[in-house]
Amino acid sequence: MCGIVGYIGNRQAFPILVKGLQRLEYRGYDSAGVAMISDKGNLNVYKKKGKVSDLLDFSKDKDKSGTIGIGHTRWATHGEPNDVNSHPHYSQTKDLVMIHNGIIENYASLKEGLEKRGHTFLSQTDTEVLIHLIEDIRKHEDIKLGYALMAALKQVIGAYAIVVLDKNDPDTLFAAKKGSPMVIGVGNNEFFIASDASPIVEYTKNVVYIEDEHVAIIRRGEELKIRTIRDKEITPYVQELEMELEAIEKGGYDHFMLKEIYEQPRSIFDSMRGRLNSETGHLKMGGIEEHETKFINAKRILVIACGTSWHAGMVAEYLFEEYARIPVEVEYASEFRYRNPIIYSDDIVIAISQSGETADTLAAIELAKAKGATIFGVCNVVGSSIARATHAGSYTHAGPEIGVASTKAFTAQVTVLTLMALHVAKAKGTIAESRYRQLLYEMETIPAKVEEVLKLNDSIKKIAAKYKDSSNALYLGRGYSFPVALEGALKLKEISYIHAEGYPAAEMKHGPIALIDEAMPVFVIATKGANYEKVVSNIQEVKARKGQIIAVVTAGDKDVKGMADHVIEIPETDESLVPLVSVIPWQLLSYHIAVMRGCNVDQPRNLAKSVTVE
Ligand code: F6R
Repeated sequence: MCGIVGYIGNRQAFPILVKGLQRLEYRGYDSAGVAMISDKGNLNVYKKKGKVSDLLDFSKDKDKSGTIGIGHTRWATHGEPNDVNSHPHYSQTKDLVMIHNGIIENYASLKEGLEKRGHTFLSQTDTEVLIHLIEDIRKHEDIKLGYALMAALKQVIGAYAIVVLDKNDPDTLFAAKKGSPMVIGVGNNEFFIASDASPIVEYTKNVVYIEDEHVAIIRRGEELKIRTIRDKEITPYVQELEMELEAIEKGGYDHFMLKEIYEQPRSIFDSMRGRLNSETGHLKMGGIEEHETKFINAKRILVIACGTSWHAGMVAEYLFEEYARIPVEVEYASEFRYRNPIIYSDDIVIAISQSGETADTLAAIELAKAKGATIFGVCNVVGSSIARATHAGSYTHAGPEIGVASTKAFTAQVTVLTLMALHVAKAKGTIAESRYRQLLYEMETIPAKVEEVLKLNDSIKKIAAKYKDSSNALYLGRGYSFPVALEGALKLKEISYIHAEGYPAAEMKHGPIALIDEAMPVFVIATKGANYEKVVSNIQEVKARKGQIIAVVTAGDKDVKGMADHVIEIPETDESLVPLVSVIPWQLLSYHIAVMRGCNVDQPRNLAKSVTVE
């Protein structure tokens, strides 16, 4: 978590830094800060608890001049969110300042050593320890800052993306990374540094993704130089960004989350585009084709992911088992990596991640890789750490997802995973040609069906008004709808702070049924399919205890309508594709409830979009 930005060039740095921080606020937003070397040569550091807007207020009447600077938006790990713990942090002499995204795991022992050498610390952060260490090495070994930085980083255990600014050198920035992301934009006699490309895209499309343990030496008027922390020279690899500026702006919507919910017909279509052709029956999945034999012979698939991506992984479990007849285990990356899991060299691991930066997922990948498994990534962010760590993969083409609550990434993941399962099933011969063709055809109709559900926004808003003051909520579903129940509950709790749980509908009677009374809204997916009658029975069990039923049903349904308090009718589709359509009402409902409760929808408390710490 945390977002970092840096600028060196001919323009004023402050507006660029602040705009960049606002774009990166999804990564953390409990405090923000900037440092610039002013036109008069002073090092000015402004930092404040709160959002970037608070920093703007705070620095209103201050000297913000300077054409070199760094900025940070924080998601607290070490030390509570307050002005002092905000970045940038000073070295002992206050000549150096640094911003940092990541965690220095051995900071306590490094700090102890520094304290013995007379260093005193202002904050509780691990970051301050590192910048003190860099300065300490520079002074005691009498070496240049770049070498001191390399030497310090060799002592660090943990993850970092850092940028260092030296008060006495207004023409140079040093940046380095390991584990946390960093991209450098290469402009015309100017450079931009950021955690992702969103602060950069408006100025240049030429970027260099920095690799682990590489240090970028960025000098005014010179070419970008990169060396490893062991001082080996690296030639920068400049790539062209595909991102467009409008994709990262709100475009007239009140919130990114709403915009992203509405983008789903497009993002689902984009995730299929160029891959699926129902006329010819062709399904092109480049990454899978490279490893087709492995997929065909796989005795097992392990899915590793966190949060919403884990829910998409659960849908994949049903799909791969049903169509490709491969057993699937869906693992929380954070549990998997620490329990000495059994991994075979013929296992296929599918790692799912919107950001491609989730620390636990990345570590689980490394573990599985070390045991010889083939790792397949399903990521949204192109060039992200997970995308680069996997052997092969298929990108979701959802476009940048900025709202902290994941919406369009989920449906894009499920889309890609469905195509993958169908591709493998076809290659393995475990699906009849007619069924395969029917599903391909049905997939192509999904964007239009999602569009239909979005038209129900006003009626969903009315339902939201009725349940906005609930303290608890239960989400139920069976089969393919069970992961959607989990996802519905996660959406509600993370943005509206209402306690919600997702359950397989039949499990309700093994415990949660005790919670049901007239104050308990129960959100059920009761679309037509193999489990329909059983879900109807579960609805009756809730009604018998006076619970409130809000049901997503197939258009034209009569039975549930007769017993539910509210129904939301969605277009009919194949049972295995229902999650792509049935999740939309739950996304809209959470969104409206959160807005009505006055919550910050795009930046819910305590959360960050990209969880780069374990
Ligand atoms: C929920 C949400 C999180 C993420 C999780 C994994 O709305 O956004 O639960 O799904 O942090 O993130 P990625 O997919 O980036 O690995």
